[in-house]
Formats: sequence, structure tokens, C-alpha cells
Amino acid sequence: MEPLWRESAPGKLILMGEHAVVYGEPGLAIPLSQLRASVSFYPAESPRLEAPDLDLFLDSADLITSEHPLALTLQRACYYFSVHYQTPTHLPALCYQIQSDIPVKRGMGSGTAISCAIFKAFAAYYQCKVSLDEVQSFAQQMDQVYHGQPSGIDAAVIAHERPLRFQRLLAHGGEPPQITFLALCPFSLLIADTGPARPTAEAVALVAQAYQKDPKAAVMIRRIGELVKAAEAALMAGDMTSLGALLYENHQCLQALGVSTPALDYLVAGAQVLRSQGVVAGAKLSGAGLGGVCFALLYPPEALHREQLISCWAPTAQHIYL
Ligand code: PMV
Repeated sequence: MEPLWRESAPGKLILMGEHAVVYGEPGLAIPLSQLRASVSFYPAESPRLEAPDLDLFLDSADLITSEHPLALTLQRACYYFSVHYQTPTHLPALCYQIQSDIPVKRGMGSGTAISCAIFKAFAAYYQCKVSLDEVQSFAQQMDQVYHGQPSGIDAAVIAHERPLRFQRLLAHGGEPPQITFLALCPFSLLIADTGPARPTAEAVALVAQAYQKDPKAAVMIRRIGELVKAAEAALMAGDMTSLGALLYENHQCLQALGVSTPALDYLVAGAQVLRSQGVVAGAKLSGAGLGGVCFALLYPPEALHREQLISCWAPTAQHIYL
């Protein structure tokens, strides 16, 4: 059966600057449009949530009282439209079906993408013209529920679905972050998955502890900021060799901050070996770390190099091809 409405949102990859963005340094992120979370609304006699991938099925009363993140996001989106667009306060009698290709707990934005897709589906259902800034702000509010104090880079790149540079203006409390959309030269990445990551809030807290106690951590954070600025210039110029070296140094900074893992380091080191052979320009972990994904930036011809890299990386990683 065709749904009444279907909306989707992409996954994301932080190219550089994770963790440092929390401290006001810039970060670079891209949407992963090939991997998406989608929300479909089907006719139903009473509200029902279906997320078959998660084996989650909630009927009326359970859905309204549930504190499961998906149920809470539906309730909050419904509440948002009732306050801002005078729609009914109760969840409409629909079957809300949620499906996602974005691996969960990998630092690829699966939760944020679902928030964006749910919000856009309600906007379509109620025929409300919402701006992408509104989508971003709702997704950021939901990220705050689950991740404590997120910088906002995930919500920005997923809501706008465009490569961007993101920077919080910490000195001007309360001001919105600075977002610059980037027109990037084409490049090719291979993403390797080392398995579920620890919660983002845990990785952020680990870095916060280091930041307070160890002056070297603050130096690392500032250094990441410098690397990001240099990477932006390299990306715009299509200078993959320089970008690759910057990625690798960014990984080393994250390692020094304590958020890498042996599995991530193993993959990044494997990619480094192939750097001297002209296969890979650079590699690093992506997202909060403590598990999750890393990626390698490939030199052309990507197809050939992809095979070489996979044979070197296998069997430790599950690969996500883009
Ligand atoms: O969404 P994750 O788990 O990939 O991490 C977000 C990036 C951090 O910089 C670690 C946290 C943040 O809020 O920016």
C-alpha cells in the first residue's frame, strides 16, 4: 500500500572537527544522501508506531505514554505543530512507519535523521510550510534530549542536506551558530564500521574532563580548529594530498583526546600504509568516537583503490560503500 505521506532525511559524516566544535572551533560535515531514514504515514483507526527494523510496535495508549525515543519524537513533533500552527494536540489516527538504512550508534546521524523525517512528515500532513531552519531547530531540540549539549553540527547538516562548515559562537551566548554551505570538489570516501559506539554524551564528557584537567587537551582542541581551517581550503581547491594529511593529523588529535579505539586506530593505520602507494589520501575516525565509523579518502581511480583498501581492511570492518 502506498503511504499517504513519506518523508526522509539523510545520514551524515563529520569530515573534520568533531569534539572541537563543542568548544567553538569550526567543523566540516557532509550529508550522506545515499543512506536515509524515512517516515511513512498510513491510514489507521488509531495512532500506531511501527519500526520493524527495531522490532518496535506500539499501539494507541502505549504510543502516547511511551518514553521510547521514536515515540517521544512523534509526540514532540505533534506538540510543536499544535503550538506553532494551531493543529490538534493529539496524535492523528495514523500508522507511523519508520525505516532507516543508516546504521545506528555509529556517529552517522541516525537519530537526528529520524527527527528531521518525522518533523517533515507532520509538516506535509498538516500542509504547513516549514523552513529548513525549523527542521534543524526541532532536530537539535531532540538531540538535546538524547545527547545532553550537542553542538548542533548534526542537526544542521542533516536538516539542510548540504556540505557545510559549522561554528558555534561561544563568546556571544545565545547567538545561532555560523553555518556556511560549501560547494565541494567531488571526492570519494570509503567508510568502515567498527561496531556500535558508546553514547555520544559519554565521549563528550570524557573530552570535557580532559579539557578541564589537562592543558594539553585544550591545545589539541585548538589544533583541530587550525586543521579544519586548512582542510576547508584544501577541499575547495580539490587538493586531496593536503586534505589527506590533515585528516590523519585530526585523527591523531582525537586519539590524544582519548576518543579513538584500537579498532579505529587499526583501520586508520592500515589506510596510512596505503597512502605511500597512492591509494588513500588520508583517514580518520568520524563522529564522537569510542566505536563507530572511520573513513578513508580515496585517490582516483576510486573503484580500483576501493578494492585494494577493502582487501587490506577486511575482515575487521563492515564496509559502507558510497
Ligand atoms: O553525532 P555524533 O555521535 O557523531 O557526534 C557529534 C559530534 C561531537 O562533536 C562529538 C558532539 C557534538 O555535539 O558536536
